[in-house]
Formats: sequence, structure tokens, C-alpha cells
Amino acid sequence: MAKTKTTFFCQNCGAQYAKWVGQCSACKEWNTVVEEVVQKPEKSSWKTIASPKKRMAKPLRVHEISSDKEIRLNTFDLEFNRVLGGGLVPGALVLLGGEPGVGKSTLLLQIALKLPYRTLYVSGEESQKQIKMRADRIHPNSDTCYILTETKTQNIFQQIEATEPDIVVIDSIQTLHSDYIESAAGSISQIRECTAELIKFAKETNTPVILIGHITKDGSIAGPKILEHMVDTVLQFEGDRNYVYRILRSLKNRFGSTAELGIYEMQGGGLRQVNNPSEILISKNDEGLSGTAIASTVEGMRPLMIEIQALVSTAVYGTPQRSTTGYNAKRLNMLLAVLEKRAGFKLGAKDVFLNITGGISVDDPAIDLAVIAAILSSNEDIAIAKGVCFAAEIGLAGEIRPVQRIDQRISEAEKLGFTTIYVSKNNKIGLKNPKIAIELVSRIEDVVSGLFE
Ligand code: TYD
Ligand code: MG
Repeated sequence: MAKTKTTFFCQNCGAQYAKWVGQCSACKEWNTVVEEVVQKPEKSSWKTIASPKKRMAKPLRVHEISSDKEIRLNTFDLEFNRVLGGGLVPGALVLLGGEPGVGKSTLLLQIALKLPYRTLYVSGEESQKQIKMRADRIHPNSDTCYILTETKTQNIFQQIEATEPDIVVIDSIQTLHSDYIESAAGSISQIRECTAELIKFAKETNTPVILIGHITKDGSIAGPKILEHMVDTVLQFEGDRNYVYRILRSLKNRFGSTAELGIYEMQGGGLRQVNNPSEILISKNDEGLSGTAIASTVEGMRPLMIEIQALVSTAVYGTPQRSTTGYNAKRLNMLLAVLEKRAGFKLGAKDVFLNITGGISVDDPAIDLAVIAAILSSNEDIAIAKGVCFAAEIGLAGEIRPVQRIDQRISEAEKLGFTTIYVSKNNKIGLKNPKIAIELVSRIEDVVSGLFE
């Protein structure tokens, strides 16, 4: 047997050192460098235990490679398909990250249960009974989904040989361990080795594998950064646990666009796909409350109408408070300064609270105008007329700037029954005869006189 080899890894970023150091020079974290055993007998195929025969790839010219045009496995979940770029590509490795409790296991179990293909759901986190309880809530009977609770990759591969699944789900990569590596499950070298074994399996058999990955406290996927390089697709499941909406984003996709977005609603019986997100994000109040304004935003490729609420009140303490939920606080300060300096509103001594409803966060600059409208509406205590929405950015000079995809934004507003939309004068609008009235504005004063006078 070869001599045991050890290396030091930073558990935070995955940097590798020949000897122990107190501070990782790559990520500057203290006390994260840990010794791990990286003794590796000769690297063998995932199938060694079952069949020792080795396959070898041959180089081919591009036109010789058979492409079997667009074979993608339908996951029977419109939102998941959309984010993947049209379905699962055979042999792809997909990594799904997200905070604890956001619903990663629920999402993948739900998809596994609905699939008409043979699916193997491997869990290292829950017992078969616990998964059964969850499954009963989501989708009572499924004939094709097999549940395995196992953490050793060699055993998993043996079960895969026996079951021959069309899709494999692993919950989660941090719980797996391989016999070829001696360090504990969840350590950098284990994660790397287990992922490498799964990639070999996926590519050799053309079976898609979906991995669940934990994320660290700063929001990146736990384990070495190279994990993200190794897999084909990285998805992120996000959402505030106190709200029911969840957003599935693609951070990397070798087989599709990363601009797509999937939206779900967490319910008693699992996650529901939300096909028309605008309707749920706008609260249905008819009384005309002051301080709310609707913005037409674009998240990824999807237009989305969101509601912005502002509360402006006289500050009780010396320093006025500015607080935001779902919106960048610095941007709010900038908009308040613009209102003060360019439009003459004295907001310097007022508390300003801003909230984007539904627990989602938005960084599309096109919601600036709606933010300003909500603030002014609360400040003046005059409600904005029903049916009015906004889509424009505000510049430092107080000018109203054009935004991209304006046609898409206007169409979405029109589709949802809005009657007026405020956009920048400089936006080129390509729509023919829209039913919605388009107010072209260039300065904040134009908006104020249109709304409140
Ligand atoms: P889970 O999938 O276990 O999260 P993760 O795997 O990302 O850690 O989701 C757990 C949460 O989902 C839990 O707080 C309860 C909620 N939930 C529902 O609201 N309805 C359901 O049908 C299920 C299965 C879970
Ligand atoms: Mg889980």
C-alpha cells in the first residue's frame, strides 16, 4: 500500500497548503486549515466493485459525434424545466444549493415522485420513514421512485447497478463519503472525490445526477469552489423562510441560459409552481392606500409586477432611520438625496421604511421610479390611482432614464389590466397600439404633477 499522503485544506475556500497555517492566505479566514488524508489507490472507474472492465474514450471529429438532437428529459415541472433550459440533459450533473429549510429536499423529492422514469433518490440526511412521511404529503403514490438511505458512494453505486435508474438524486453531497479517501464526510477532499466519482458515473452511463449542496453562512455553496466548476449546472434555491415564495435561479448552465427563473409557492402539500407570479406579488387592496406603488420589473427573462411599500414619518430620534426589505439600502439613500436636492422634497429629517412585498428582493434599477412614487405618496399621504405602474431608472441629476426590455414590461402591465404606465421619454417603444396609456416623463416633477395634482 502506498504511503499515506496528507495535505492541508482550507475548509472555507478549498485552498490547498503543504503545511499548516493559521490564516488561509486565499480567503483570509482564521483557523480553517485542516489536515486531510489524500491517500489515493489507483483511480478507478465507479464500477470497479461490480465489473472491472474499463472503457476508454476515443477522440472523434465534431461531425462524427452523434448528437441525437435535443434529447432532454422532461422533469414534468415547468419551472424546473425552464431553469434548466428545457429539461435535464442526459449525463449532466446538476448542483442545487440553498439555505437550510428553504425546500431543496422537498423540491427534488417532489420532482422524483412525479417522474414517470425510474428514479433513485439517495438520502444521507433523513431515514426512509421520514422521507415516506414527506412523500405522502406531496404525492401519495409513485411506482417508479426508489428511496435509498446510504452515504457510502461504493454502496450507492452497487444499488445503482441493481436498480438501473434513469435519474439519480443525491441529498446531499456533504453527507457522502468514499472509501478512497480517509477524511470525514463533508470535508473538502471527500466532497471533491465523491463528486468526481459521480461525474464519472454520469458521463459513462448518460444518466443525469442531481446533487443537493449545503451553503455556507456567506451564501456560497459549501465545499471547494471547484465543485461548482466540476458540475454542469449550478442552481440556487432562495427565498425568505418566513414567506411562501421561493425562487429557483441558475448560476451556471452549460446547456442553457442563466437568465431564467423559476418561482414556487411552499404549501402544505409541497411546492406549487407559480406560472403567473405577478398576480401573487401584488396585494389585492382596493381601498387605495397611500405609500404603495407598482413597478414593472424583469427578473431574468421574466417580467414581473411587484408592489413597493414605503412609509415616511417624522423621525422621533435625532438621526432619521432608513430601513429596507428586499431593496438595496444604499440605493434608497441615493434616491432620497436626489428627491431632496433635485425635486425639493425635505426628507432629511424623516424616517423612511421601504418594503418589497412577497419577501423577494429586487435589484433591477427600473424600479427606482416606483420607489420614488411610493415614498412621495406616503409623504404626501395621497394614494396613487389604481391601475398606475412604473418602469424607469432615476439618475443622479434627477433625470428619468430609459430601461431595457421596455416593451416586455409594458405588455406585462397591460396583460394584468393596468391602465397607465410611466416610462422615460428616452425609451424607444416598439409596441403597436398598446391599450395601456404610456406616460412619457423626463423629470421627477412631471411624475409628481401627473400623480398628485
Ligand atoms: P426541506 O425540503 O426539508 O428543506 P431543505 O432540504 O432545503 O433543508 O424543507 C423544509 C421546509 O419546508 C420545512 O420548514 C417545512 C416546509 N414544507 C412545507 O411547508 N410543506 C411541505 O409539504 C413540505 C414537505 C415541507
Ligand atoms: Mg434537506
